[in-house]
Amino acid sequence: MNDSVRIVEVGPRDGLQNEKTIVPAADKIALIDRLSATGLRSIEATSFVSPRWVPQLADAAEVYSGIARRPGVRYPVLVPNETGYDRARAVGVEEVAVFTAASEAFNQRNINASVDASLERFAPVLERARADGVRVRGYVSTVLGCPYQGEVPVADVVRVAERLHAMGCYEVSLGDTIGIGTPRRAREMLRAVAAAVPMPALAVHFHDTRGQALANILACLEEGVRVVDAAVAGTGGCPYATGASGNVATEDVVFMLDGLGMATGVDLDGLIDTGRWLSALLGRENGSKVGRAGRSG
Ligand code: HMG
Ligand code: MG
Repeated sequence: MNDSVRIVEVGPRDGLQNEKTIVPAADKIALIDRLSATGLRSIEATSFVSPRWVPQLADAAEVYSGIARRPGVRYPVLVPNETGYDRARAVGVEEVAVFTAASEAFNQRNINASVDASLERFAPVLERARADGVRVRGYVSTVLGCPYQGEVPVADVVRVAERLHAMGCYEVSLGDTIGIGTPRRAREMLRAVAAAVPMPALAVHFHDTRGQALANILACLEEGVRVVDAAVAGTGGCPYATGASGNVATEDVVFMLDGLGMATGVDLDGLIDTGRWLSALLGRENGSKVGRAGRSG
């Protein structure tokens, strides 16, 4: 596996959205700018969702406007509907991500809509994005299990991923929202989706709730995926997924990929520094093992 992987850093969005204490906008901006200095090329900056649903990201416009945009770096943001798209475009956003799930029960709690209704909501967003030259990423949550409904049939994951891709999402990220998957199931799920959506248009998004994320990522790399979502210092969790904890830590993913000889273009030392800085800021133990131990001890 001697090629390159694109990391989509989701720390400023997925990492922070569940934090109870509001992180000042200036600190969020500093986090994003530190991350872009490490060589990361995709940094999910914030969400233009309802501030009543996710109070932590109510400052999305201020944060996005304050970023020191680095050439060659993309700063996607989450939008759940046209209102979110309008707010994002008002501050010059050039890439958005729409998000739905393979499970009805989760989607209702997360965005107050059925899966099909959410896809209908995205249709005008995708149409406008196409006209505006805005790139759109799509997320499918609960691809390996749902906190409310339990088992999620792979066919449901395939159906939703295929719809998002057909609607114009350039990439579909497959989310193990509650970190319940193990490598064999992750591999089988990815293989089934890749039969319907080309592998270069797929990404994987693992939460590390049960310590399986790196193993799952390795299995998916072996299947051919080359885009991996991760959050610095292993921050994160979805407020509408009971028991969801941190994303896989970006430092740990980059360390593993370095060991596999797969290029990421990311400066691991700079990333470790940023993860330590963020952990101190949040007053939490660093969720990255590499961040705690250092590159070489
Ligand atoms: P709703 O209450 O059904 O919305 O929420 P509504 O359309 O009925 O509107 C109600 C009010 O919200 C109205 O205001 C709207 O204007 C306002 P009012 O007239 O009452 O004053 N509103 C908005 N305000 C600002 N920005 C907006 C917006 N939309 C409506 N975009 C809604 C529906 C989708 C808005 C809500 O459920 C929501 O914002 N949900 C977001 C939940 C969320 O962010 N979850 C976490 C992200 S997903 C995730 O973490 C999973 C992922 O990481 C992958 C994985 O791990 O699996 C991606
Ligand atoms: Mg997530």
